[in-house]
Amino acid sequence: MIKIVTVVGARPQFVKAAALSDQFQRNFSNEIEEKLVHTGQHFDRRMSSLFFEELGLPEPSVTLPSFSGDHGFSTGNMLVETERALKSLNPDLVLVYGDTNSTLAGALAAVKLAIPVAHVEAGLRSDNRRMPEEVNRMLTDRISAINFAPSERAMKQLRLEGLGDSARHVGDIMFDAVKLFSNPRLHLKSRVETKSKLQVLVTIHRQENTDQEPRLKDIITAITTLGPDFELTLPLHPRLKRALDNFGLSDLVQGKINVVEPLSFLEMLRVLQNADLVITDSGGLQKEAFYLGVQCITLRGETEWPETIQLGWNRLWEPGQHELAELARGVVGKRGLAGFPYGDGESSRRIAQEICNLDWKIYF
Ligand code: UD1
Repeated sequence: MIKIVTVVGARPQFVKAAALSDQFQRNFSNEIEEKLVHTGQHFDRRMSSLFFEELGLPEPSVTLPSFSGDHGFSTGNMLVETERALKSLNPDLVLVYGDTNSTLAGALAAVKLAIPVAHVEAGLRSDNRRMPEEVNRMLTDRISAINFAPSERAMKQLRLEGLGDSARHVGDIMFDAVKLFSNPRLHLKSRVETKSKLQVLVTIHRQENTDQEPRLKDIITAITTLGPDFELTLPLHPRLKRALDNFGLSDLVQGKINVVEPLSFLEMLRVLQNADLVITDSGGLQKEAFYLGVQCITLRGETEWPETIQLGWNRLWEPGQHELAELARGVVGKRGLAGFPYGDGESSRRIAQEICNLDWKIYF
């Protein structure tokens, strides 16, 4: 039996971990025993415990106190507390996901205790080191024993950085999650429903968009002037809420955007399946839109998922470029190309199999 501790802390990680936990429980219960450590990074009910209940994730064995604050402060405190948790749980392997501060804290705590790390969603790069996520993913890839890559491009990147021996091409775990939790019947139904207005799902939470007032103001202004034929829904991330309050920008949104609380994953999929367009700075949502055949505009200068752009399902937009309204009108109703750059939605089975096949003791 391989004893795994999965370290999660931020919302997208709960979704990814749910897909893999489901695989462990259904098909690998004789080989793999999994426990969870929750770093406490996301702590509001609608950002955290709701996901555990809804997606059937095991209760965390350890939940750390929350250390919101500057990146060094919160990552450092998560490192200290995760180390303590790992010492008591004593796993054979630590599993981390993605690129958040929880990912880096979990990976670093493990390697310092000579516990091998497996990194799911490895090899992605934005080539923008001002993003905290870029630094987190580069460092986590470097110290992980096994890097599970979602795409051929991610594999190439890992080879380029001399990490080819650690790399395994398994596909994107988010594809598994969308297959597992979306409702195909709902999707078909919503497509034939006639809606009076074009439905747009908007999410904004990236620090580079929320934390500079002029940029955030320009983004919100562009979105709110899309036109009367668009109906906008914005699930409000705590970082955006704080920024709108601090900069006195809440009035810009009032009456123009339907602002709702952060959505659970199932709620998000339902809204997405009913949407004509997504406008977002989230990495995960770009791909969820792609998997469900919904057009996307990404509010950034670069993306870790360029295949969605190449296939015509996604494009980048930043303030100062051409009009957002024009871009939006040009893409709704269009279909991109069919393609499977991120595998077939069976990555959780490959990851579990790989974990069982490897001799983890050779890493330390
Ligand atoms: C983090 C990840 C980002 C990921 C995102 C998903 C990093 C560097 N960033 O960004 O990659 O896309 O999660 O949501 O790890 N807050 C609350 N309640 C909560 C959670 C957060 O009030 O439940 C507040 C925090 O106290 C903080 C702010 O929201 O003031 C931002 O949260 P934080 O976890 O630092 O980063 P995110 O912006 O959520």
